[in-house]
Amino acid sequence: MSTQSGTATTPRITTRTVVDMKGRSEKISMLTAYDFTMARIVDQAGVDIILVGDSASNVMAGHETTLPITLEQMMYHTACVVRGTDHALVVADLPFMSYQVTDTGALESAGRMMKEAGAHAVKLEGGAYVAPTVKKIVDAGIPVMGHLGLTPQSIYKFGTYKVRATDSEEADRLLSDARLLEEAGCFAVVLEKIPSNLAEKVTSELSIPTIGIGAGQACDGQVLVTHDMLGLNKDFSPRFLRRYADMHSQMTDAIKNYHSDVKKGTFPDKNEQYE
Ligand code: KIV
Repeated sequence: MSTQSGTATTPRITTRTVVDMKGRSEKISMLTAYDFTMARIVDQAGVDIILVGDSASNVMAGHETTLPITLEQMMYHTACVVRGTDHALVVADLPFMSYQVTDTGALESAGRMMKEAGAHAVKLEGGAYVAPTVKKIVDAGIPVMGHLGLTPQSIYKFGTYKVRATDSEEADRLLSDARLLEEAGCFAVVLEKIPSNLAEKVTSELSIPTIGIGAGQACDGQVLVTHDMLGLNKDFSPRFLRRYADMHSQMTDAIKNYHSDVKKGTFPDKNEQYE
């Protein structure tokens, strides 16, 4: 089967596909992208889900938190990513205050993300408080991914980026929130920076997949910020981050070499100019 833009050989991953992957214990890979070129690389490498994370606020725009990014900016990033993919499921974050104020507002934000930006699903943060909103969005035909644990849009409430749900009260609440999100119709839930034994418990209790970031190996899938796993950002080194490349050094060397060649007059040479 092929869908709208997927090719016949690599059918587009759907929300159904990722739920089925949990059913057959196949791990799910998810990475972020915010632009066409990165999305194309991630998609062609075969990653299952591309998340247009509101981490774009930090990574692309240089803000300290995810709070300032707007719905319009997230829609711009999402449309760029969608144009770069044939295979992956594209999930777009709904930014801070685009879904928390009213259900009507949430439906409008989710609807615009799907209709105008071309996302295949949306992600939003929170548990019991957002579960009724999730239900309304899902009832409107829009797939929703949940996000529990360290939810960066609440950073000013938490006051710290430390591991969440280390005490039994918060752990119980997280488990109950996860159940509520599943009941509300979420097709998957991100678990960010929580103890691995809690993530294991949530994963075994839910029939929808859990996608972990700093939540251990029991999760049904894993997500990282692509810029972090490629080693583009030297200043961010949490314990959960595995760097698969040192792109910061490689890019710096390449750019220094270019700069030096221009200064020396050795770029361009005769083969790099027109007669
Ligand atoms: O915005 C983001 O990149 C995320 C991931 C860290 C899960 O939400």
